[in-house]
Amino acid sequence: MKILMVCLGNICRSPMAEGIMQSKIEKNNLPWTVESAGTVAYHAGEQPDHRAQKELKKYGIDITHQRARKFSAYMFNEYDVIFTMDASNYIDVMNLAKNDAEKSKVHMIMNIIEPDKNRSVPDPYFDDELYTMVYEMLDKVCDAVIEKYKLKTESVS
Ligand code: 4NP
Repeated sequence: MKILMVCLGNICRSPMAEGIMQSKIEKNNLPWTVESAGTVAYHAGEQPDHRAQKELKKYGIDITHQRARKFSAYMFNEYDVIFTMDASNYIDVMNLAKNDAEKSKVHMIMNIIEPDKNRSVPDPYFDDELYTMVYEMLDKVCDAVIEKYKLKTESVS
C-alpha cells in the first residue's frame, strides 16, 4: 500500500505524519510506503520546519531528508490512500480529483479514529505550543491506520 500524507505547506504536519508512519511501517515490517505533499508550493524544496524536526527527534524519528513539494493531480495515480490533515486540505485535494475512484482515496486522517467528526490536526505553523499535540494526534491515528489497513491488505494478499 502506498500512502500520501497531505497538509497545506508540507513543512509541519504532513512531514511529521510521514515520519511517524514510516517509523511504524518499519517497526511492523509492513510492505507499505509513505510520502507527503502540500496543497501550496510556498515552501517547495525546503526541509521540514525546525520545530517539526525537533519534536520528532524526541522520539528518535529523523525527518531531515524530507523536502516539501506541492500536491499534484498525477498523485492520485501514484498512491492508494491520501490522508489530509484538515478540512481545507481535504477540499483542495478533492477539487483536483477527476472521478469517484480518485475521490474515494481521500480521507481526513482523524476520521480513522473518530469517523465522520471531520476533526482537523491543528496547524502549528503560527503556534509553537501545538507541535506536541500534533505529534500525539498523529502517533495515535497512525496506529489506527495500521490496524485498519493491515487487515485489508492482508485479506487481499
Ligand atoms: P503545514 O503548516 O501545512 O502543517 O505544513 C503550514 C506551513 C506553512 C504555512 C502555513 C501552514 N504558511 O502559511 O506558509
